[in-house]
Parts: sequence; C-alpha cells; structure tokens
Amino acid sequence: MKLILIGYMGSGKSSVGKVLAGQLSVNFLDLDAEISAEENKSIPQIFSDHGEVYFRRKEAEVLKKLLEKDEGCVLSLGGGTPCYGKNMELIKAAPKATSIYLKTGLLQLTERLMVEKEHRPLIKDLDSSEALEDYIRKHLFERTFFYNQSDLIVSTDGKSVDEVVAAIA
Ligand code: S3P
Repeated sequence: MKLILIGYMGSGKSSVGKVLAGQLSVNFLDLDAEISAEENKSIPQIFSDHGEVYFRRKEAEVLKKLLEKDEGCVLSLGGGTPCYGKNMELIKAAPKATSIYLKTGLLQLTERLMVEKEHRPLIKDLDSSEALEDYIRKHLFERTFFYNQSDLIVSTDGKSVDEVVAAIA
C-alpha cells in the first residue's frame, strides 16, 4: 500500500507523512528529499542553478521511479507535483496507491508560509503578507483542479498533525 500526500506548500505533507508512516510502520519518502539526494543539491540550489523547467523534469522522473517501486510507503509530494505534465495521471494509475489531498485554507497557508518561505524558491521574494496571500490565492485556485482529483480530501484547518493523521487513518 502506498499513501501519497498531496497539497499546497505549507499544508503539512511532510510532518503528517512522518507521523503517519510511523503509525503504519512503513517507510516515509519525501519527493523533494529524493530529488535533492539524486542531484546532491538543495531544492533552492537546483532552481537557481538550472531553473524551474529542469526541476519539473527531474521531479517527474523521480516521481515515476518512486511510483514504480513495489514497496509500501507514505510518499509526500511537492506542492506543484500533481499539477505538471502527466504526473496526476500517473499518481491516479499507480497500483495499490491512495492519494490524499491535505486541504488547507488561504489564511492558514499564508500565516505558515510567511515564516517558512526562505527555502521555497517560488515565494521567497514575496516580502509582505499581502503579496504572499495574493500569490497563494491565485496559485491555489489554479492548482485545486489537480488536487481535487485525489482519492481522499482531508481538511487540515484548525487541526494538529496528530488530528490530521487520525482523520486519514
Ligand atoms: C513547490 C513546492 C515545494 C518544492 C518546490 C516547488 C511548488 O515543495 O517542490 O519548491 O511548486 O509548490 P513543498 O510543497 O514541500 O514546499
């Protein structure tokens, strides 16, 4: 069984994924961490050295490889992963896999990302919380079309990591 966590930046995919994997006694895999390890560079470094198009190509390659692995795990994706190329189709077609959209509202995302944006190349230069909120509103609107194709949707607003894990379980 593979549980695939989908959601916008700051929706808690990695924190929830680690706890969930621990409870289920399966491996936790983070797509960004796997990309970083393959490239031997941080995500911001990959963006600045090679650009976003290169990152998206690598992201699709590593995703495909992980989905093909016949091993139970909790896999946390990047916020943009389901929204490029054929990634969402591959996710939906992956054998024995369930995709879960961690749905987080605009206000909570803006609050979290305001203090966690430095290592996120797409938003690190947005200085005010108004600019960040505007960006997230538009971006989230575009991405929701893909996120909503997940098998399950779990709202995270007002929930702790343990409560989100319990809701998924
Ligand atoms: C991205 C989200 C990031 C990372 C990259 C691009 C995006 O992952 O993959 O910076 O397009 O939303 P997180 O969702 O873990 O921050």
